Amino acid sequence: MIDIIKNIATAPRRTKASVIRELLKITNKPGIISFAGGLPDPELFPYDFVTDAVKEIMAKKGRTALQYGPTDGLPELKEEFIKFLKQYEGIDVKPENLIITTASQQALDMVGRLFIDASDPVLVEKPSYMGALQVFKSYGCEFIGVKLEDDGVSTEELEEKLRWLRSQDEHYKFLYLVPDFQNPSGVTLSEEKRRKVIALSEKYDVAVIEDSPYRQIRFEGKEPKMLYRLDKETHNTDNIISLFTFSKTFAPGLRLGVILAHPQIVKKMEILKQSLDLCSSSLNQLIAAEFLRTGYFGKHIAVVKESYKAKKDTMVAALEKYMPEGVTWTRPEGGLFLWLRLPEDMSADDMFAEAIKENVAYVIGSAFYSDGSGNNTMRLNFSYPTTGEIEEGIKRLATAVKKRLVAAK
Ligand SMILES: Cc1ncc(COP(=O)(O)O)c(C=O)c1O
Repeated sequence: MIDIIKNIATAPRRTKASVIRELLKITNKPGIISFAGGLPDPELFPYDFVTDAVKEIMAKKGRTALQYGPTDGLPELKEEFIKFLKQYEGIDVKPENLIITTASQQALDMVGRLFIDASDPVLVEKPSYMGALQVFKSYGCEFIGVKLEDDGVSTEELEEKLRWLRSQDEHYKFLYLVPDFQNPSGVTLSEEKRRKVIALSEKYDVAVIEDSPYRQIRFEGKEPKMLYRLDKETHNTDNIISLFTFSKTFAPGLRLGVILAHPQIVKKMEILKQSLDLCSSSLNQLIAAEFLRTGYFGKHIAVVKESYKAKKDTMVAALEKYMPEGVTWTRPEGGLFLWLRLPEDMSADDMFAEAIKENVAYVIGSAFYSDGSGNNTMRLNFSYPTTGEIEEGIKRLATAVKKRLVAAK
């Protein structure tokens, strides 16, 4: 047996197991307080709403719900999503601008399939979302990392890299950004830089993937406009492809997302999706349509924001209380994550085993760097643990950091 392994094609051979999924196996150990996952708080899922919605759907639209649907998505969900975009983002679109996906991870796979030929350069933030790096790598791209600053990707470095790629006659295709409360760092791209990114997209003919699962979970500060909207208001390049998901605003178990793009891109995506899964779940699309139609989305997101803000505040306060000097962290205005920096010469990778001994877990920051750097960083999730666990977990983490500092002396 298993001689056939050698017959496996290039893309899966290139695909490495996700560091997070591997870490999660360790962090499931009883007694561990885990800041490692990226899970929404299951206490907040709208169980009663879903129960009632399914009953109603079965009574009125059972045939649609249990049948195959169109590959680009059910008109019921598209109609509601168009209203959502108008109300929350000030964006006017038509059904042909939208394709419903089996959540954003599928959308990322479709982006990879659509644009990447082996050895094509792909521009990513440093750090960037690991799930995107994994899928783009499987299509054989080369990453061009661009430094992430406190107000988002460095537009100077981005232009330098684009200029260099053009001078080399490289077939660079797209820039991948998580502009709102980035996973992993929690950083948001300022509106000023968004305008620069769009100008660069026009100047260098590069598509911009705006992957924004956390945008609706803003608990403080002013919201910059979406790149898609800014592009429409300024350059009208049609180079922006925006990815939405219901995973963080509703429930990841629905596996539902939406791509917003030019109709020609949507048409190409539709052909790709035909071979991936024919269509996303019809039942789940109707549930999501009800979620938007009834206005439950607005009520639910208010509850989510209140809870996550309290958890983020607890984490920041605990870090201030327990962490030794030399350790710094971001103060995100929304989302699910906070980013912690140890002193430059300390490795969060090496410290991981010690943290586990203290019964606390995190994700090593280097896993989010396309070039393996960022050794002194880690991602901490605050949506899943309770406030009591956050306080205790940060105390344990600080103990691990202090022990390491003493050992280094
Ligand atoms: C930036 C980003 N993109 C995409 C995803 C995938 O989410 P989903 O497939 O559940 O929509 C995640 C999940 O954490 C994410 O953080």
